[in-house]
Amino acid sequence: MTLHDIAARALHVLDSEDAHRATISLLKAALGPHADAADPPLATTLAGLALPNPVGLAPGFDKNADVHRAMLAAGFGFVECGTVTPLPQAGNARPRLFRLTEDRAVINRMGFNNVGLEAFAANLARRRPGVVGANIGANKDAADRIGDYVTGLTRLWPLADYFTVNVSSPNTPGLRALQTGEALAELMARVGAARATLSGRKPVFLKVAPDLEDAEIEAIAEAVAGAKFDGVVVSNTTLTRPDTLKSGHRGEAGGLSGAPLMALATRVLASFHAAARGRFALVGAGGIASGADAYAKLRAGASAVQLYSALVFEGPGLVTRIRRDLAARLKADGFATVADAVGAK
Ligand SMILES: Cc1cc2nc3c(=O)[nH]c(=O)nc-3n(C[C@H](O)[C@H](O)[C@H](O)COP(=O)(O)O)c2cc1C
Repeated sequence: MTLHDIAARALHVLDSEDAHRATISLLKAALGPHADAADPPLATTLAGLALPNPVGLAPGFDKNADVHRAMLAAGFGFVECGTVTPLPQAGNARPRLFRLTEDRAVINRMGFNNVGLEAFAANLARRRPGVVGANIGANKDAADRIGDYVTGLTRLWPLADYFTVNVSSPNTPGLRALQTGEALAELMARVGAARATLSGRKPVFLKVAPDLEDAEIEAIAEAVAGAKFDGVVVSNTTLTRPDTLKSGHRGEAGGLSGAPLMALATRVLASFHAAARGRFALVGAGGIASGADAYAKLRAGASAVQLYSALVFEGPGLVTRIRRDLAARLKADGFATVADAVGAK
């Protein structure tokens, strides 16, 4: 255990959200861990982006693009900041973030608290080498929610390496309706049209919930391929509550993430892999806490993975442990590269 991991565990005496704030402050002051240089066998690509390793930081940790440099230095292969909305937003009333320690899980109902597009853009402009994505969303009270995605994409286009259109937060009422039917078609068309006017080619992904029926997965895959989006991030948090949950917080409203999400999100990922038929890339998220978990997502079809909740329990040193274990697993199974393992049965 590193000194940093000990500090991370000590933060557990604080309320969950205060602990997160304290962590962000430490990282901003450059007190984060520093990982060893890249492991060559883990270098890979995601929709044309060159990644030093396939283990990314999921959005929600760095909502305001405050600590992307520190998290790249901690060894993540890429960092996704956000969700950012055009206007600053306070989010839901506290408490809104709960640790389910016995379950290695988190429930959150943050509600897109963030500093808004202009402050986010100023933070994002302070870059170090490395891949940073922007996760864009809609203000709760927006008259034209799809217009908010277009505004975010356009404003941040020169600043981020890729974009994720987040239509899967369960904490903005009605947002998940953008995943289906006419609303999805209109979203894809308007975001696609905006993108066509912007210079240069950057990947755009759609981030989905794990709470989808097979027919919905098929319909989303066709819409993504038809609109020439570059990929799908599978998945956001779940509204389901597995019977196995033990923690007293299990009844809190919001999205569940962490270990109890791993099996569900990986199953949905595999369904998207089948439905994609090679037409777009996949990013696997949901419940990753070990090299074995990250490896399972790659084998299910993800070109890269993301994690957040396990950091709450393990501290940022986790990413180095996952990278080492992943490299060992690839070698043991005879895969020369990460790409060779993607979708391998
Ligand atoms: C406290 C918290 C806040 C989150 N905020 C966002 C967000 O703003 N946008 C987003 O796309 N996902 C958000 N997520 C979802 C994560 O990015 C990720 O998809 C999900 O937690 C599953 O991964 P995990 O089990 O490794 O945490 C959040 C998750 C947590 C725990």
